[in-house]
Amino acid sequence: MYFDLNYIKIATSVLKQIVGKTFPNPPVVSILVESNALYRVNKIVSLGITSVSGRPHAEYNAINNFNFKKNKKYTLYSTLEPCCHDGRGQSCVSKIIDSKFVKRVVFATIDPDTRVNGKGKTKLIENNIDVSSGYLSKEIDEIYKGYFFNRKSKRPRVFLKLATSLDGYIARKNQKTKITNEQSTAFNHLLRSKMDAILVGSNTVKVDNCLLTSRINGLEKFTPLRVILNRKLDLDINLKIFKNCKKYKTLIFTQQKSMDKKKKFLKLDVEIITLVEKNYNLENILKKLASIGVSNLLVEGGAKIFSLFLKERKFDDIFIFRSNFFIGAKGFNATEFELDDLSKIKLFKKDVKKIGNDTLEILTRK
Ligand SMILES: NC(=O)c1ccc[n+]([C@@H]2O[C@H](COP(=O)([O-])OP(=O)(O)OC[C@H]3O[C@@H](n4cnc5c(N)ncnc54)[C@H](OP(=O)(O)O)[C@@H]3O)[C@@H](O)[C@H]2O)c1
Repeated sequence: MYFDLNYIKIATSVLKQIVGKTFPNPPVVSILVESNALYRVNKIVSLGITSVSGRPHAEYNAINNFNFKKNKKYTLYSTLEPCCHDGRGQSCVSKIIDSKFVKRVVFATIDPDTRVNGKGKTKLIENNIDVSSGYLSKEIDEIYKGYFFNRKSKRPRVFLKLATSLDGYIARKNQKTKITNEQSTAFNHLLRSKMDAILVGSNTVKVDNCLLTSRINGLEKFTPLRVILNRKLDLDINLKIFKNCKKYKTLIFTQQKSMDKKKKFLKLDVEIITLVEKNYNLENILKKLASIGVSNLLVEGGAKIFSLFLKERKFDDIFIFRSNFFIGAKGFNATEFELDDLSKIKLFKKDVKKIGNDTLEILTRK
């Protein structure tokens, strides 16, 4: 229909608002449109978004409890192919079929999840529902990039986030250092709320005693999973990050086998994943994160961890917040090791923003 693209665009504008708020499922927006017999008069009558915990899904929410009228026609628009795996509750495709009134479904893109991947579309067609797809815009593609990585490559999309002084340092040696201004901090907290997980090395937790939450009014509850790499599992449980693990999910990757050492963290509701030394590598850590639903991962340092991701080329985007002062001789480098030939990595400058006296550069891998 000539108006399909308009409704997909409306769904896209809502989609942008719910990024990072549907973990462990991808964000989806679904719109139910009611039309007269000739599709000349059309109006939105229901909106569904993926629920906060990931379920029920958007299509289900758009249809559920809606009172369809016999003399009207209904089209369901969705930003992703409706799912068709009945298991944890009724699938969206079954819900659409059971509604008996939705006779057209329009969606932006096929869901690469192997349980769906075109099967949702086929099942709708088999049930005499008219299906139209292929409305993947640049905006939707950008939003689902992490999800596509997760389902196709079994790893999240990785964003590195650094705050540096003008001379490129990320801290004063062995000191918690405030690098950027309040607005940049707020921007970063907003960024966190759009992610499924944040990852840091154990030394950043020790030195900065950081909380890693999204401290913006109303967004705290969208604090993503906080992930710490700590092979020895020797972090002090009195650090701030361990004070609120009931509220904000926290996960440590370790090589530590001692149950005694683990118990004190488990008591605080910290999840622990133990990998034996030969399996403790970035590839397995990312695979594990993807398997629990992490599609977008923000890596917040410190230097050893940045080095690890850079060295292994496991990153897709970089956010660099640059302040307006020098640190000089006491500076702590953003990366710890000599990085072999980073110059081969092609980066594309996506955006540059002025945030007060700070500058934010957003780079992406080509
Ligand atoms: N400005 C910024 O953007 C920014 C951001 C974050 C931090 N910082 C600063 O950076 C400094 C901390 O950086 P850092 O380099 O000392 O420490 P880090 O990168 O935060 O943490 C390094 C630690 O992570 C653990 N780790 C676990 N798995 C690892 C692996 N596969 N490879 C490497 N390390 C692994 C190791 O300790 P275990 O033995 O416990 O495993 C290692 O010592 C602080 O001064 C902090 O303020 C700045």
